[in-house]
Amino acid sequence: MTGLSDQFHQGTVYSRVRPLAGSRPERQADPFKEYPGSKKVKLETPAFPAGSLWGSLNNRRSRRELKTEPISRDQLSLLLWACQGVTEKISGFQLRTAPSAGALYPIETYLVINRVEGIDPGIYHWNIREQSLELLTPGDCSLKIETSALNQDMCRNGAAVFAFSALFSRSTFKYSDRALRYIYMDAGHICQNLYLACEDLGLGCCGIGAFFDDEVDALLGLDSKTEAAVYLAAVGKY
Ligand SMILES: Cc1cc2nc3c(=O)[nH]c(=O)nc-3n(C[C@H](O)[C@H](O)[C@H](O)COP(=O)(O)O)c2cc1C
Repeated sequence: MTGLSDQFHQGTVYSRVRPLAGSRPERQADPFKEYPGSKKVKLETPAFPAGSLWGSLNNRRSRRELKTEPISRDQLSLLLWACQGVTEKISGFQLRTAPSAGALYPIETYLVINRVEGIDPGIYHWNIREQSLELLTPGDCSLKIETSALNQDMCRNGAAVFAFSALFSRSTFKYSDRALRYIYMDAGHICQNLYLACEDLGLGCCGIGAFFDDEVDALLGLDSKTEAAVYLAAVGKY
């Protein structure tokens, strides 16, 4: 590796001989993000369908040819739960479907909803604690997310685009610069859960790393410094 990737990787190695340099923020971001004044859509977790993990692992593919058909509200709810649903509460930690370094859960989930039965199109934030979607921007944003993601049309055609952001200080507060590695690992775990859940429900999913960071951040209302989008995934029927 050369240049920035080498700098980043070498600058965040753990070594017995060289302690990790790097800074930590003065304050750690709250473990749960909420938009108190927003209009909310409450989503209960529906009964789990009976599927086979092995079949989903075997059949999973990145599916880009998504149909412009809606998915159901229950399907969306299951997908959100698969990403980061809280499954156990132990000594102050709310453990989730996906693992997270230090159980710090730096990844937030936003949704650009294009077509989901019973939910108006718009940009939403997933409030994990309340299990509700918080409306941030009403209206059809499918074209905006498509252009922000280098014109990948699955973002416009799909029923929804999941946008995973990192609230950096949740992790850098404890792990300093090394946190960046963990944050990307966390995002990967979450998106793999989404892939497998989609496969199980017969829906298509494609992870998206190619996007203009500033445009996606602006769309989600993120400042790119304390919080920034790190990974997207388009989801829908295929
Ligand atoms: C981090 C990451 C970023 C990706 N970004 C894109 C993307 O921007 N556009 C796209 O069409 N596929 C993207 N993919 C999907 C890969 O192209 C895909 O996983 C790969 O071709 C293997 O195919 P499979 O997922 O069907 O097994 C991405 C996958 C990962 C893991």
